[in-house]
Amino acid sequence: MEYFDRHQGGERAILVSVTVQMLKDLDGEEFQLLAKSAGAEILEHITAQRIKPDPKLFIGSGKAEEIATLVHDLEVELVIFDHSLSPGQERNLEKILKCRVIDRTGLILDIFAQRARTHEGKLQVELAQLEHLSTRLVRGWTHLERQKGGIGLRGPGESQLETDRRLLRVRMTQLQSKLDKVHQTRIQGRAARQKADIPTVSLVGYTNAGKSTLFNILAQSEVYAADQLFATLDPTLRRLNWDGIGALVLADTVGFVRDLPHSLVESFKATLEETLEATLLLHVIDSSSPDVLEQIEAVESVLKEIGADVPVLRVYNKIDQSGEDAKIIYAQPNLPDRVYVSAHSGVGLDKLRQAVQECLVGQIQTFDLVLKPAYGKLRTRLYELNVIQNEAYDDEGNLNLRVIIAPSKLEQIVRQLHLPLDEILGERAIQFERPLEEFEL
Ligand code: GTP
Repeated sequence: MEYFDRHQGGERAILVSVTVQMLKDLDGEEFQLLAKSAGAEILEHITAQRIKPDPKLFIGSGKAEEIATLVHDLEVELVIFDHSLSPGQERNLEKILKCRVIDRTGLILDIFAQRARTHEGKLQVELAQLEHLSTRLVRGWTHLERQKGGIGLRGPGESQLETDRRLLRVRMTQLQSKLDKVHQTRIQGRAARQKADIPTVSLVGYTNAGKSTLFNILAQSEVYAADQLFATLDPTLRRLNWDGIGALVLADTVGFVRDLPHSLVESFKATLEETLEATLLLHVIDSSSPDVLEQIEAVESVLKEIGADVPVLRVYNKIDQSGEDAKIIYAQPNLPDRVYVSAHSGVGLDKLRQAVQECLVGQIQTFDLVLKPAYGKLRTRLYELNVIQNEAYDDEGNLNLRVIIAPSKLEQIVRQLHLPLDEILGERAIQFERPLEEFEL
């Protein structure tokens, strides 16, 4: 789709951040990273302080004149505000600054538009952009050079919409029904996975925490990862086979950011649903970020907001930068709470796999099994799980296996194969909580 072509070459931009009393402090570095992600070449980052925003311009008129001079002198094409501006404020600012003005929502929508990869992601972004645009259709673009494809202009195309408001409503309805269909398909896929008893592990986390990098290394796949925000937009699923667990689905999800436009949160519900239905969430955290606590809080509050009642394992990533050791921290014996890793160097990934295994199937133990020749299928399954430490035949032709596996996993396989648990495990069978008669032998 031509709408979402990536913008090449930096657009000359000035950033504006205003500290408004009573509002929370802004993160200037994150704003710059967002602007760069959208393809801006930042010429200046202007900061100002106000007691409250000016209703007409957001900033004061003196400040606006100052920026207008800079826009002229530096041949600036775009001014980006780290705030939500009303359509009226944007229009007034454009008249004074004589260049395009976009706000934080417009910027984030633009980044999403560039990053959407799957059909569903593109539909979702287009819908969110149309919602944002629908409040801005009246703005007077005539005083500006119309520049196709710039930051904030990518997407559905304003000229087309200006000509016919009806078109906008029709397109939005169309998009919604297409999305509903895709959503339906997704629900079916998830139901099939649940029926097959395949656990889903979802990566969530603040934008730039390293989810895609971790996903790639765990899935050994090629998902786009870049030093840009929102490199991941759509949930990307991979079916993997993990030692001691067997089949599992790993899901990469969209990065969280503070003040995500509400229209996007709404339209990304499908993505979040994947998170809600997961068996385990890996909350990936950039342990080297100075804002680590705020970022953890931002992610956890969204999880709470959407009602995610799923076990969470915190993954402190980038320990190559933060200097921590690779380790697992337990909340209770055998219940991991945190793991420290570096997706970049691969340090600690063995610990991560161990912790995931402990979260999903319980602590691993050593078992000595005696298998009759007729139980070859069990050996095959254990072999596939890569949990066999040793194997040897005894005088009677039985196979003696030493395996390291979680009891619940072993129980599950033996039950699935309809084999006699007590015979295979001998005295160890007592470990299982339920009486043996309950198993389908
Ligand atoms: P979004 O798609 O924005 O949500 O980001 P993400 O969480 O998927 O992050 P991504 O994997 O794209 O990584 C962001 C940046 O961090 C990239 O430049 C990675 O190379 C870098 N990165 C990821 N893991 C590590 C790590 O363990 N150490 C270091 N030093 N850098 C890392």
